[in-house]
Amino acid sequence: MRRVGDDVVDLDDPAIATTHVNERFVARVCAEPEREALASAPDRKLRLWSLFAAKEAAYKAIARGGPPLPFAHRRFVVADGLTSVGHGEVELSLCVTIDGACVHAVAWSGRAPPLARTGLLRSLETPGAAARRLLTSCLGDGIEVVRPPSPGSWDGYGPPAVERDGAPLDVMVSLSHDGRFASFAALIGIMALPAASDPSSKPP
Ligand SMILES: CC(C)(COP(=O)(O)OP(=O)(O)OC[C@H]1O[C@@H](n2cnc3c(N)ncnc32)[C@H](O)[C@@H]1OP(=O)(O)O)[C@@H](O)C(=O)NCCC(=O)NCCS
Repeated sequence: MRRVGDDVVDLDDPAIATTHVNERFVARVCAEPEREALASAPDRKLRLWSLFAAKEAAYKAIARGGPPLPFAHRRFVVADGLTSVGHGEVELSLCVTIDGACVHAVAWSGRAPPLARTGLLRSLETPGAAARRLLTSCLGDGIEVVRPPSPGSWDGYGPPAVERDGAPLDVMVSLSHDGRFASFAALIGIMALPAASDPSSKPP
């Protein structure tokens, strides 16, 4: 099955104002080649959070459906050009878009890129509601994001799935929110695609 994950970062969040110069954080998050590239990056903050978002996006894609996967950021290795991210033998395509202070990473398996959007939270809107609003604006009214209970997971719930009128849709979705921004990425028709189009799938 194809997979998708996304992550959005608000570069203006005061909580990360100086994190990019915190060497202990960088060493915990980045693999050695990433640290070398970071050292010479023209915009170190942008580079670090692009890498971070890519790793979070890949984690969401890879952890889905399998046994619990501890999140070790350094084990997710992002290619220099930010076009792919690997974890063990799994390699995902990657797209990192930057719009002002909004960094959005989408990681996916298979050829066709996912549908993806970012947007600003509205006044009094919760982050989760903003991500769901963006998704609904693309998939149409009447959809609902469901997250079944999953004891042992980090927040007690499993990854998001999409339903319409109580019936599951053939869509894999990822949601994210940070600071002023929310986002989603969605692969539509994941069950319909032949396994051969998925480079991450292994032969039986
Ligand atoms: C899952 C994780 C990557 C989410 O990232 P985050 O930066 O905290 O939050 P984001 O805003 O980017 O994403 C939140 C969304 O991710 C989605 N999500 C939650 N768990 C998910 C999972 N396992 N897979 C995919 N998506 C998931 C949810 O839709 C959530 O939004 P919602 O609360 O509005 O429904 C992060 O919390 C994490 O690191 N988890 C792993 C913890 C870990 O390793 N624990 C060790 C024990 S195994």
